[in-house]
Amino acid sequence: AEDGYDLWLRYRPVPAEVRGVLQARARAIVAATPTTPVLQAAVAELQRGVQGMTGKAPALSTRLVPGALVLATPAQALAGLDVPWADLGREGWLLRSQKLQGRDVTVIAANSDAGLLYGSFAWLRAVQTGANLARLDQRSVPKVGLRLLNHWDNLDRHVERGYAGASLWDWWKLPDILDARYTDYARANASLGINGTVLNNVNSKADSLTAPYLAKAAALAGVFRPYGIKVYLSARFSAPRELGGLKTSDPLDPAVRAWWKAKADEIYKTIPDFGGFLVKANSEGQPGPQDYGRNHADGANMLAEALAPHGGVVMWRAFVYAPEAKDRAAQAFDEFQPLDGKFAPNVIVQVKNGAIDFQPREPFHPLFGAMPKTPLALELQITKEYLGFATHLVHLGPLFEEVLQADTHRGGTVARVVDGSLHGHKLTAVAGVANIGTDRNWSGSQFDQANWYAFGRMAWDPDLKAAAVAREWAAQTFTNKAASRDAIVDLMLASREAVVDYMTPLGLHHLMDTGHHYGPGPWVNDLERADWNPTYFHRAARDGIGFDRTRTGSNAVAQYAPALARLWSDPRTTPPELLLWFHHLPWDHAMPSGRTLWAELIARYDAGVASVDDMGRRWAGLRADIDPERHAEVTAYLAVQAREARWWRDACIAYFQSVSGLPLPAGTRPPA
Ligand code: GCU
Repeated sequence: AEDGYDLWLRYRPVPAEVRGVLQARARAIVAATPTTPVLQAAVAELQRGVQGMTGKAPALSTRLVPGALVLATPAQALAGLDVPWADLGREGWLLRSQKLQGRDVTVIAANSDAGLLYGSFAWLRAVQTGANLARLDQRSVPKVGLRLLNHWDNLDRHVERGYAGASLWDWWKLPDILDARYTDYARANASLGINGTVLNNVNSKADSLTAPYLAKAAALAGVFRPYGIKVYLSARFSAPRELGGLKTSDPLDPAVRAWWKAKADEIYKTIPDFGGFLVKANSEGQPGPQDYGRNHADGANMLAEALAPHGGVVMWRAFVYAPEAKDRAAQAFDEFQPLDGKFAPNVIVQVKNGAIDFQPREPFHPLFGAMPKTPLALELQITKEYLGFATHLVHLGPLFEEVLQADTHRGGTVARVVDGSLHGHKLTAVAGVANIGTDRNWSGSQFDQANWYAFGRMAWDPDLKAAAVAREWAAQTFTNKAASRDAIVDLMLASREAVVDYMTPLGLHHLMDTGHHYGPGPWVNDLERADWNPTYFHRAARDGIGFDRTRTGSNAVAQYAPALARLWSDPRTTPPELLLWFHHLPWDHAMPSGRTLWAELIARYDAGVASVDDMGRRWAGLRADIDPERHAEVTAYLAVQAREARWWRDACIAYFQSVSGLPLPAGTRPPA
């Protein structure tokens, strides 16, 4: 049955005319022997893929036969092979159909076994997306070093902000029982180039650092290792007190420092290639260095010192905000920017894409470009906490592209900050909060798989275009028929603007109801912390709507580069998409469309609803080309989304109308 378990690695039988071509191009797999575990994984994947598509798996061979897939590294010194090894880096690959020693072969070349694994997946992707196998000539090198999933998985298997079932990690049965799904998880990640995974929630329990849990994590690391994936853990800052019986967790206390060193030594004894720690400190009630009057650098550097002898890294999160702050959006910059240059070399500061919290649209985080002496990791959220969970079809590729390509006006785009090229950093990372769980389809819906896919591909190469990545995904996951594939891509690409419009148009943000963050709650204004209230963010009143972040308000806009701050300080030069993020404007403010702000707001909500209806129509038109099971499932989800887009629109407009006191503009129909 087509239930989505196979993700984009479906390897379904190809039509007869393609089968012949494919078989002729995969007669055998030539690789160095004996194979390492990573090389073995590459070979096994190629065999599995070709077997699935043609019915026959190519054998592993040491002889260069015509039609071979040749897995080549410089060590093998294959006569006649001309590969620009130096350009391929440690993990990059080259894919080329060519003549070698008089035979037509396909070369997959890399400097490491991990590169061969990625190259093998790239070849399978080329096959599944209908590339001409006689003329392959591709090459790719990752621009970012650490491409990581962050699992917000608790040890009791609840996944914070998870909408795809329980945590994959069966802590109770680990380390003895290794679910076959762990291997499939690793295959899927390796196919995208993801090379690390943080197993546990940033709101972590100290228990994950105890010996029994380290043994369990080591068992998972053992499964992932052949796929080039390292294990990382979220570390609770107060662990020395909670586990070590110390009186303090003060990062400058010698006993605390010794405790972390001993802990790191213990971890590396158990997991020799352990990646490092992810830390949420002094954020939303979590313990941290500020509890002892120290700063973020003091905390991060202490952990860095413990990990450094083993080559581990600290990913220190910059997601901080306190109720006293004048503007929640401004606090991370205020706390972190002055610490630029103060972090140890194996610390990377992990910054969310925007300054609030994974909203349908935010301007890029002002820290990007503003801390030249500190490596900054980009944190994206793949799970859709604020974008309709797994029921709403919202493709995140365009959101990822928008933030990566945003010009910081400090010498380059966010992508150039994150890939280290702008400020000359070697330590680089992109992290994605995973949307993976025990659901049969892994991600809670068929289309949410595409968000995992887009994250992985764009972490490898932040300059990939969302449209191209969506095309790859749709071809592998649904259909290679160009017209249908493109119709799916159109639908995916439109979906992001749709959700912005029906939830939070024109720069509005955080209108979601409390706690769950699913439906609308713009009226909520009685939470224990003011900076959690939707009314705090939209500031709608008789006089107008929006958060004034210019000089007359919080002045958070000044955290951006002067050129950008100037543009965004004036409503006339602020893009309409960000208008109410930066400005509080009267309801009759004239918009570029010629409408008043009030009329524009309503038009955007209507456009969002219309766009979802359109997605439904497009999907219905694809029925003949999609298997009935997945087609019906997506249809059902789209019906929920159509209903809930109206819920969002009607609730928000009704609420804002109660505040503005304005009638619906002429020509506006009562909601249907
Ligand atoms: C959001 C989210 C929390 C999460 C936090 C974080 O606020 O709602 O569940 O813990 O982000 O990123 O730390």
